[in-house]
Amino acid sequence: MPGVMAVARESLRVAIKAATERLTAAGVPSPQVDAEELAAWSLGIQRTRLGLHPLVESEWVDDYRQLVGRREQRVPLQHIFGAVRIGRATVQVGPGVFIPRPETELLVAWALTAIRDVPSPVVVDLCTGTGSIALAIAADRPDARVIAVERAPGALAWARRNLELHLESGGSAVELRGGDLTDPRLLFDLDGIVDLVTANPPYVPAGTPVEPEVADYDPPEAVFAGSDGLAVIRPLISVAAAMLKPGGSLVIEHDDTHGDSVPALLRARRVLADVVDHRDLADRPRFVTARRVSLIEPT
Ligand SMILES: C[S@@+](CC[C@H](N)C(=O)[O-])C[C@H]1O[C@@H](n2cnc3c(N)ncnc32)[C@H](O)[C@@H]1O
Repeated sequence: MPGVMAVARESLRVAIKAATERLTAAGVPSPQVDAEELAAWSLGIQRTRLGLHPLVESEWVDDYRQLVGRREQRVPLQHIFGAVRIGRATVQVGPGVFIPRPETELLVAWALTAIRDVPSPVVVDLCTGTGSIALAIAADRPDARVIAVERAPGALAWARRNLELHLESGGSAVELRGGDLTDPRLLFDLDGIVDLVTANPPYVPAGTPVEPEVADYDPPEAVFAGSDGLAVIRPLISVAAAMLKPGGSLVIEHDDTHGDSVPALLRARRVLADVVDHRDLADRPRFVTARRVSLIEPT
């Protein structure tokens, strides 16, 4: 028909199959999921709705192939998307900051339950990175006073931006403190007044082989923590115990090789009780929780 241009269309299923083959050859650990995630993101739909789009424009397929090319180079999906959802919060991610992981959702869920009955709780998120845990808690509990702590200047810049975006979108203010959590000047004003301390610190033993996405995109200081992986967790436990009020809760994510050692470090502290280790969805030891007790005997 004169004046009408036919738009070339191709099968989405075929495009995703070709992408999966490329990602498989590149050694991507979950090639089909990633190929589908990239397609869904590029189409602006949920992955579960891909079946509703059997045909796509050839021009779209060209763009999709370029996206797949980035993943083929082992650029993390989260860097391609530029953002990660955690709980009710969305945080921006990119070079210079640790990418929040899905398993940390479990820590967030436990943390929110721990403060469920505490009105206007005071929460400190140590090693905040993008600010992900702090913002997931603030998004769920706008009545909370949330303080996020981070040492690395690169990560601090991302956290600052995410906290500002949260505020601009109508969320509650989250306080950001830049510095080393072991610096006695950083958190002294919070001694004994905190209801919940959360932390997903660096915990991988130095020298552990990691995937290219981690080696090339997560800052080493966000991943590795000394030869046994406990170099940050050890002092962190003391700092957290000092800040917690009696009855307050502590939750720390740890390496799957630390299912005994980190709970043992907590049990060694007389001010901490109810130490429980929790497993992730793959049934690996993943985070530990405890409660602060008072050492003053009731008279
Ligand atoms: C594994 S990343 C976790 C980031 C974030 N909590 C998350 O789950 O996405 C650990 C973070 O702790 C920070 N960090 C490491 N040692 C620290 C210290 N001594 N004091 C404060 N932050 C520290 C790193 O810079 C990094 O951003």
